[in-house]
Amino acid sequence: AKAAGVIIFNQGNGEGRTDVLNGTLGEVTEPSIPAVGGDYALGVELAADPDTTVRIKVDGEVLDSTTFNILADTKGNADETVVVGAHFDSVAEGAGINDNGSGTAAVLETAIQLAKTKAAPENRVRFAFWGAEESGLIGSEYYVSELSEAEIAQHALNLNFDMVGSPNGVRFVYDGDGSEFGQAGPEGSAEIEKVFADYFASQGLASAETEYSGRSDYAPFIAAGIPAGGLFTGAEGTKTKGEAAIFGGTAGEAYDPCYHTACDDLSNIDEKLLGEMADAIVYATATFAEVQPHKGK
Ligand code: PHE
Ligand code: ZN
Ligand code: ZN
Ligand code: ZN
Repeated sequence: AKAAGVIIFNQGNGEGRTDVLNGTLGEVTEPSIPAVGGDYALGVELAADPDTTVRIKVDGEVLDSTTFNILADTKGNADETVVVGAHFDSVAEGAGINDNGSGTAAVLETAIQLAKTKAAPENRVRFAFWGAEESGLIGSEYYVSELSEAEIAQHALNLNFDMVGSPNGVRFVYDGDGSEFGQAGPEGSAEIEKVFADYFASQGLASAETEYSGRSDYAPFIAAGIPAGGLFTGAEGTKTKGEAAIFGGTAGEAYDPCYHTACDDLSNIDEKLLGEMADAIVYATATFAEVQPHKGK
């Protein structure tokens, strides 16, 4: 699947400017994601978490900015909720197209593809667009902090997608079993890693493991004991010779040379890689949601 065109509200610039990935540039005055409005995908309802104020720096000036999460639920068993998330804010320095328009678009595309199958997910899928990740995982921390013990128990897992179209990227899967980096996630995280790794192998696509670092919105979930996993194509780290031999691209250069800078714009995406990651995200979501293609209306 090609990642969806999506309006990304850039909280960083403080002006409500938006950028559209794979589409034309647009303007919205209200922070919103019209593409998933109404009952667009699977009869989802949009619910904004109560607003949270964050302090951000724009052109050296400190501003108070209101931020929010957007949650969209499918029908299905709430006791096995699968949260599929990506942060939709960016840093102030740039438009944040790879970080994290890419993850936002891929999650939105997943909702669109699942809706198209008219399938009934056995388990509830909660598409989550997190605000204020860059200010310290504020949106996802807030979300998990509001859960009761009983609600935590209803969360089967979290899938997280932060930077999935890096221009010099690698197909990285979070090392949820700790096999390579020694840091394992809550029980169940190993299975998530395996689903992604097996999927890529089945497609004849190489993948590699990346540190289970907690450097993104899955951290509050694992802290609460909820299994988590995800994909990543690399940030400021340098591509090795070995990786370049397997994945192509340029050894000795950053996976994303525009990470957290002004050049993270519409040209800063490997669209083929983003499409492969989006396919993997659709596959993993359908697997964990136990989507049954012929059960739907
Ligand atoms: N969370 C980081 C950011 O948004 C990106 C990142 C994701 C880094 C996953 C490492 C691992 O800037
Ligand atoms: Zn970032
Ligand atoms: Zn990010
Ligand atoms: Zn591993």
